[in-house]
Amino acid sequence: MSEEKKMAIDVKNLRKAFGNKIAVNNLSFQVPEGSITGFIGPNGAGKTTTLRILCTLLKPDLGSVKIFDLDTSTSATKIRHQLGFMPDYFGLYDDMEVYEYLDFFAAAYRIAAHRRGKLVDDILTLLDLTAKKHSLINELSRGMQQRLSLGRALVHDPKLLLLDEPASGLDPRARMELMELLRELRRMGKTIFISSHILAELKNLCDFVVIIENGKKIYNGTVSDAATTVEGDLSRIQITSAQDSQTVINILHAWRDDVKATLKGEKVTLVEYHNLQIKSSDIIAHLVKNDIQIEEAAKISANLEDVFMSLTKGGIS
Ligand SMILES: Nc1ncnc2c1ncn2[C@@H]1O[C@H](COP(=O)(O)OP(=O)(O)OP(=O)(O)O)[C@@H](O)[C@H]1O
Ligand SMILES: [Mg+2]
Repeated sequence: MSEEKKMAIDVKNLRKAFGNKIAVNNLSFQVPEGSITGFIGPNGAGKTTTLRILCTLLKPDLGSVKIFDLDTSTSATKIRHQLGFMPDYFGLYDDMEVYEYLDFFAAAYRIAAHRRGKLVDDILTLLDLTAKKHSLINELSRGMQQRLSLGRALVHDPKLLLLDEPASGLDPRARMELMELLRELRRMGKTIFISSHILAELKNLCDFVVIIENGKKIYNGTVSDAATTVEGDLSRIQITSAQDSQTVINILHAWRDDVKATLKGEKVTLVEYHNLQIKSSDIIAHLVKNDIQIEEAAKISANLEDVFMSLTKGGIS
C-alpha cells in the first residue's frame, strides 16, 4: 500500500460492548479506495456490529471511523450519501413488486420522480432482473432477492458498498454471478467491503482481507501475504512419479531426516520441510539421481481455509 493511497475506510481503536459482552475490541484497519476488501471472521466475531458502526446505524463506545476522510461522529448525513449498506436480512416487503421496491428506496433518497424510472431500469439491467420488474418480491428466488437487496444499496449511486454476507444461502452458480457483479461494480469505480465467514468464497475476489475474531483484528493485508504469514518457513511440494510413492518416500527418508514425505496416492507423494536452505530443485535432483521418473512436481501454498484455521482459534463467543 503506497503512502498516497486514499482510504475509503479508516477505523481506529474501535470498541463496542453490549452489556458486558465486548463485540468489537480495539479494532483498527483500513480499506483502500477502489479495492474489494473482505471482512472475515467466524460467527459472533463482530462483523455485523462493525458494519453497523461504519454505516452510522450504531455509535461506538470508543474509537474513530472515517469514511472518505469524513468522521462518522460529525458527518453522518454526508457519509450516508456516500455509502450503500446491504444488511444480512432482507426484510418483509411481500406485497411489493421489484420495480416498486427500488422506486420506493430511490424516493427515500429524494431522487426526483422523473429521474427514477430510468435509474430503476438501469439498476435492473445491471442486476439482470429486468424480466422480473413486475414480479412480487416474495416470488423471487433467494439469489434474485440478494441481487435486489444489492440494488437497494445502489439507488443513490454510492462510492462505497458495505455488504454483510451477501452470498450466504446462495448456490454455487448464484454465488459466482454475485461475485462477477461485484467485480463489475468495482470496475465502475466503487469500493467494496464485504463480510463472510467463508474464506474460499472471497479468495479470488478480494485485493485485501481483514480477519477478526472475538472483536479483535488478527490479520489485515493481501490474501497472498496471509498465506505467507501462516506458512512461515514451511515448504510443500507434491510429486507425481512413474514409480510408487513408497519408493519415493524411502529414498527421501534415507537421504535426510528433516524432510517429511507422505503418501497421497499410489504414485503421489507430499514432501514437506521447514528448512529454507533446501530448494525444491534439490529434492527433484535427488530423486532423479535415484532413477525416479518425475511426471509432475508442484509447490503447494496454504489455501485460505488453512490460513483461517491457523489464524483463528475457532472460538465462538
Ligand atoms: N444488539 C445486541 N445486543 C447484545 N449483544 C449483541 C448485539 N449485537 C451483537 N451482539 C453480540 O456481539 C457479538 C458480535 O456479534 P455480531 O453480530 O457483530 O457478529 P458477526 O461476526 O456478525 O456474526 P455472524 O457471522 O454470526 O453474523 C456476538 O457475541 C453477539 O451476540
Ligand atoms: Mg453478522
